[in-house]
Amino acid sequence: MIARFFLVLIVLVFSFNRAALAQTITPEPIALPPSEFPLPSAELDKQVAANDTAALRKHAWILWSGVTADSTQSFQGQKLPIWETWLSEQEAFSGPALTASVARQARSLRPFAIPRQLSHRTVRSGNLLSMQIAPSAAKSRLLAFVKLSPDSANFVAVSHPTANPGGPDTNYTKSSDLDRLNAYFNQNATPVANRKIVDFPAAATDLKMVFVPAKADQLSAIPLWAGPQNSSSPSQPTPDTWNQCVAVDPSNSRSGTTQIDCNGKTVTAQIVPLTSFYAIKVDEDTASRINATLSLSGASSLASGDYQILLAMHITTKEIANWTWQTFWWQNGQNPPGNIPGSVDGMLGPDRIKGPWRSYAMCISDSIVFPPTDPKGKSVVCYNPFLETAQADGINSNCMSCHARATYPGAPYPDTYIPNGWVDMADPTLFSDQVKTDFVWAIQGSAH
Ligand code: HEC
Repeated sequence: MIARFFLVLIVLVFSFNRAALAQTITPEPIALPPSEFPLPSAELDKQVAANDTAALRKHAWILWSGVTADSTQSFQGQKLPIWETWLSEQEAFSGPALTASVARQARSLRPFAIPRQLSHRTVRSGNLLSMQIAPSAAKSRLLAFVKLSPDSANFVAVSHPTANPGGPDTNYTKSSDLDRLNAYFNQNATPVANRKIVDFPAAATDLKMVFVPAKADQLSAIPLWAGPQNSSSPSQPTPDTWNQCVAVDPSNSRSGTTQIDCNGKTVTAQIVPLTSFYAIKVDEDTASRINATLSLSGASSLASGDYQILLAMHITTKEIANWTWQTFWWQNGQNPPGNIPGSVDGMLGPDRIKGPWRSYAMCISDSIVFPPTDPKGKSVVCYNPFLETAQADGINSNCMSCHARATYPGAPYPDTYIPNGWVDMADPTLFSDQVKTDFVWAIQGSAH
């Protein structure tokens, strides 16, 4: 009798563990050879100084191949690409979140949320500096999350000494630690140039992913980027203003064109198979979380078995002092029309970049201006049409120029902000009473 009781107990415990283990995904590093990643900063700096776009784009495609390659793990029947295994910003900042201990817990791999960048508004006494506009987020039904590579997550999980001798050890996930570091800089009249956290390690890689819902039983319209001129709002061409769409076919069996509602207007759209996107089949929990976040109900709401499809991904790496910046977005494997930044030029072959990952175009901005150290140099423009178009003058923006201003506790964007303007890292009007956070906004956003 007692023996049988224990047998039942053991079976129960065992099956419970098996269910929990389905959630146990361990972060895997990018599996590229050292000759490809991380590259020595001197090599990349030389390419940046020489404006060797072909070499820098090749490196960006190599990174793309690295983060999108299959990991060794699967989840809900789907082989996970490397990036899916990484900790989300929430996980990485959740306390002593050492990779191994988090991996043993049930994980929320995909914390879909309204992109915070889109609700980043700055109020100044007297005038509202609206850096980014919010409302289109819900209209375009975009959801986003941020992921940190193991090198990046492990770096934020532990305390770091201050560069100046005698400064406090600081954990960048803790606002009390960062406040103390800022006060230390003030007390010691630390030169503005040195008011900063220590550098992330060279292999640190951060991502921002953007998704949109698609139905499992019907065609869904997905806006297709065709430049500001094909938007009802050419100066701020957010995806909900584009006048071209494709129709995603979840049965992967149809071709040709169809009439479909594209941002409120009926248009002729090319039918494209779901397999040309990276798509996640959502379970019931995720579907209801998304419905709540986007206030979706009735026919437009998601159910178990519907999809979240990947429209865009930002990738940054700390291989050079100011990080490398590349962004990818779904463009049906083609170059966007006209002379707008971004293309599929130089994409590696299908042995390196597989299946749906070949549908995305890319632009880079590894310096703010060119020549890279000339404050009056020519602006380098690169933006993701699904994200930065929501910002004031986003269509002339540069990733590095905005991220250079990432600080703790955070300062209003000054009147002098130019979306692609040179940033002097020793400028007291930008950085006094601040800790510069090595171009990473997540520290300001998630330290607690
Ligand atoms: C005008 C400002 C601005 C521009 C331009 C901008 N970003 Fe960001 N970015 C942000 C803010 C604010 C966040 C944090 C909030 C969020 O995650 O939405 C962020 C978050 C990120 C993250 C997550 C890590 C982090 O720093 O928190 C990555 C990666 C990223 N951006 C890459 C890029 C790339 C690549 C580009 C250029 C194509 C770019 N960004 C352009 C403001 C900007």
